[in-house]
Amino acid sequence: MREFSAAVLADVHGNYLALKSCLEYARAHRIEKYIFLGDYITDHAYPRRVMELLYEAKSRYDCRFIRGNREDYMISYRANGGREADGSVWKDGSCQGALLYCYEELTDSDIDWFESLPISGSWQIGSAPPIAFCHGSPDKAKAQIYSPEALEKLALLPERILLKGHNHRPFSFWHRGLRVTCAGSAGNPIYSRTQRGTVEITPLAKAAQMLLMHYEGGRWVPEYVTVPYDWEQTIKNLELSGLTKRAPVWAAMLRHNVLTGTDPFGRVPQLAVELYKCVSGTEAGWADVPEKYWISAAKEYNIDLF
Ligand SMILES: [Fe+2]
Ligand SMILES: [Fe+2]
Repeated sequence: MREFSAAVLADVHGNYLALKSCLEYARAHRIEKYIFLGDYITDHAYPRRVMELLYEAKSRYDCRFIRGNREDYMISYRANGGREADGSVWKDGSCQGALLYCYEELTDSDIDWFESLPISGSWQIGSAPPIAFCHGSPDKAKAQIYSPEALEKLALLPERILLKGHNHRPFSFWHRGLRVTCAGSAGNPIYSRTQRGTVEITPLAKAAQMLLMHYEGGRWVPEYVTVPYDWEQTIKNLELSGLTKRAPVWAAMLRHNVLTGTDPFGRVPQLAVELYKCVSGTEAGWADVPEKYWISAAKEYNIDLF
């Protein structure tokens, strides 16, 4: 018999319409416990609408929040007086335009709230075994869980379940008696990586994703749910907000992700870096690659520009 459930929401990335539908789904299923796993903002348009939904959830339900690496970007940019640690500033363009847009939209009190959040936590709900949760790994918001160092530390956790975000795709594995489960992503869910020369439409296309944890029969049972949402408006918002102008290829990749459920966010910028190096002989970071190479790379991956 099911005693209670918790909704686990990871990686909204500014997609407030996806978050709104997930919260409505959870509410319709009478869920009162929520775990939010970070990367609430950056990427999609109107991040303050995400913040309003989070603050509302906080006031209505029993919630736990942690911060992700995207919140850390905002915290550290502000702490450096509106600069990166190396003194550089974010500029409009496909690398940093969406980050800069988000930074301009957020309020100081939003960033204060991010600063107040831990990067990991543990929650014992009723008599159920405690659940540990984190964004990347328990001691780093931006970390891969598979690294030998991270796996070594996992073995020290007292909990037997660790929920995580950051990877944007559903997976689960056992490590020395600990069950590690990634909650996928509410706003930018990923089923597979975008392939060059083909367009794959996956089961996560045009959908939000959430993990439900049900406590039944004396154990936690995970359930991934795929939630319909107004994805057409999410795409329209990229244009309405100006993101298609401020971060042209990034906005096109966001639309491609919404339409396909695939992940172009690593491969396309990497190809732009390689194309630029071929032509100029210059080894450059993402932020220093001229826009035309981003556009060429997007075309190689069949990503339509706005
Ligand atoms: Fe993320
Ligand atoms: Fe992340």
